[in-house]
Amino acid sequence: MPHTQMPKAKAGLDLSIVVPTFNERGNVERLIAALEVALQGIAWQVIFVDDDSPDGTAAAVKSIAATDSRVQCLHRVGRRGLAGAVIEGAMASAAPFVAVIDGDMQHDETLLPAMFAALRADRADLVIGSRFLQADGLDKGLSAIRQMGSRAAAWLGRKALRAEVSDPVSGFFMIRRTLIEQVAQKLSTDGFKVLFDIIASQATPPRILELSYAFREREVGESKLDSRVVVEYAGLVLGKLTNDLLSVRTVLFGLVGASGILVHLSVLNLLKLGGHNSFEQAQILAALVAMTSNYFINNALTYRDRRHKGWRLMSGYLQFCLVCSVGLAANFAVADLVRTYVPGWIAAGTAGAAVGAIWNYVISTITVW
Ligand code: GDD
Ligand code: MN
Repeated sequence: MPHTQMPKAKAGLDLSIVVPTFNERGNVERLIAALEVALQGIAWQVIFVDDDSPDGTAAAVKSIAATDSRVQCLHRVGRRGLAGAVIEGAMASAAPFVAVIDGDMQHDETLLPAMFAALRADRADLVIGSRFLQADGLDKGLSAIRQMGSRAAAWLGRKALRAEVSDPVSGFFMIRRTLIEQVAQKLSTDGFKVLFDIIASQATPPRILELSYAFREREVGESKLDSRVVVEYAGLVLGKLTNDLLSVRTVLFGLVGASGILVHLSVLNLLKLGGHNSFEQAQILAALVAMTSNYFINNALTYRDRRHKGWRLMSGYLQFCLVCSVGLAANFAVADLVRTYVPGWIAAGTAGAAVGAIWNYVISTITVW
């Protein structure tokens, strides 16, 4: 049958719900049931994006998907990362609107119809579920430390975006699909802050509406947000603050470098307290300790995607020390040179450190990792 005579497609899809999951087996059925209740009257589908969770989340989704065509599983292998999962799920959608919601029931799915209504009536391009619009929004779901951290992250995000968004790090939002497609190439696939990234990457500021909800306590499974996620977020925000001049990797490298300075000074101080009296020797020892800690932190964090293991870890370490020694020599040489033209330590020290850091970064990226 020529395709012009094909039966006409049924009425289209309104909304894709993207659910990133990692070890959420116990929440899958509950979430689908809750969506079913909340989304009456909307033509929806749900796309679980699972990173091959060891607990068998994907199998749980597929067993439901086998008999319910609204349910799909994007089962990724060899990859990890919340942001990347969200982007891939959204890119798999053909619906005009895409919602993102956590798979652990901490977000309030009963907010979805109101989000959808706002988008369809074209009152906004993006609707965010915000935990901060009401005083007790965070009370139950997060520890005191996490509450403070969340508020700080939101504040930082607002400053960087220059947008009045109370919760730019929310994992709960609904958006016109094309807004993600347009910027998909630019989005970082690492970390938790995909919403922040989507907003920051838009060429024209989207019209944003925020709706308040209370963040629920997690009943099943555990949180995957750890300190690495926090450092990555700092990198993302700094990158955006400098208009992408600095990539997440550059910023991480810089942060690790700064930690190295602290290590260096601490070691010097310890040696001094311990009665060591050769300054030159102490400097060399302190520099070695700092290089060592920088190498291992960079390997675990900055270059995590091409991390060295086994023998390569040792040869990489030696290479890194070599690169950084040249960087240190360049640092001193430039500082000396600048000091002959500009009086005082500050300009000379800054110029030296900048040249040394750029050298270390560029050469490490090319040769060590
Ligand atoms: N596919 C995939 N891959 N999913 C992941 C990954 C991953 O590497 N890491 C986490 N997830 C899923 C979880 O299974 C869950 O459904 C959702 O992403 C959120 O992860 P949680 O670990 O529950 O995050 P949280 O509750 O601690 O953090 C909350 O607050 C953040 C803002 O501070 C969430 O609402 C986040 O979305 C939000 O950004
Ligand atoms: Mn959660």
